[in-house]
Amino acid sequence: MDSPTGTAERSVRLTVNGEQRTISVEPWRGLADALRRKLGLTGTTVGCDQGECGSCTVLVDDAPVRSCLMLAAQADGAVVETVESLAPDGELGELQTSFSEHGALQCGFCTPGFLMLGTGLLRAEPAADRARIRECVTANLCRCTGYGSIVDAVAALADSPEEAS
Ligand code: FES
Ligand code: FES
Repeated sequence: MDSPTGTAERSVRLTVNGEQRTISVEPWRGLADALRRKLGLTGTTVGCDQGECGSCTVLVDDAPVRSCLMLAAQADGAVVETVESLAPDGELGELQTSFSEHGALQCGFCTPGFLMLGTGLLRAEPAADRARIRECVTANLCRCTGYGSIVDAVAALADSPEEAS
């Protein structure tokens, strides 16, 4: 059995990347783990599993959330978006293309988290300026890129006056 504690599973209904899904989860199972193991959405990466690195960031009801810190059961009734939602037809989405064009990834392990963080920011604050984008992306850890290119990639899609000039 998958449950180390023998506790009963419960049924959780959620919308994931636009689809209604129902999964059976143990009370201890985290959302990141459920997305990966129960739904096969392995684009969400798990680095620290302790809420430090942000690689597991997904959107829950439009807000960026560290899915390793959220229990799957807490997502009952929620709308969840993972990195797979950015390329529903297998073509890179706008922000993914911008990351590619700006060299905003190297090993790529952190990239799903940054993409969802950036997606959440641009949705909530379409005119975010560089200072705001920089502040936002420092929430997540990247060991490779040095952050400048990540800021550039997100800023390229913002409607801020400094990008138009
Ligand atoms: S894996 Fe969730 S914050 Fe690091
Ligand atoms: S690209 Fe390697 S950790 Fe960010």
